[in-house]
Amino acid sequence: MGVKSIMIKKTITFLCLLGVLSLITLQCNKKKKADESIENGKNIYEANCSACHGISGEGDGPGAAALNPKPRNYKKDGFKYGSSIEEVKRTINEGLEGTAMPSWAEVLTDEQITQVAEYVKSLAASSVE
Ligand code: HEC
Repeated sequence: MGVKSIMIKKTITFLCLLGVLSLITLQCNKKKKADESIENGKNIYEANCSACHGISGEGDGPGAAALNPKPRNYKKDGFKYGSSIEEVKRTINEGLEGTAMPSWAEVLTDEQITQVAEYVKSLAASSVE
């Protein structure tokens, strides 16, 4: 084997390692981004939604007692108006006519609505045992 082919082999090994490393970094960043997004969703939820929906989504916020219909218990009852991310986002965007659930389209950005929807879904999911 000549010096040249050894060099080529080494270069290939090096490039492979580099590829693996950058893949790992990429995955970590993705995870970090997802965590940040849930964290944002939590903040938005606690500031805007928990008064009615309750801190843990059980429909027991201080504002809920006077409402009819009351916000439901996501943890126990799941979603009446659809549980896919699109449906939850639509509910948040448009609000629910005939209930106290307001439209948030003017208050929150689309990104914030996505984040808070993810968070609400995570609240509901945490009850499935
Ligand atoms: C003023 C009280 C109030 C506030 C504030 C509020 N909601 Fe609601 N929400 C309700 C009520 C009442 C319902 C209707 C419950 C029903 O009809 O079963 C509802 C329903 C919902 C539903 C539909 C649940 C289902 O069964 O499909 C979602 C999702 C939701 N709210 C998310 C949010 C989010 C996210 C926020 C904050 C950005 C928020 N709500 C703020 C009162 C409120």
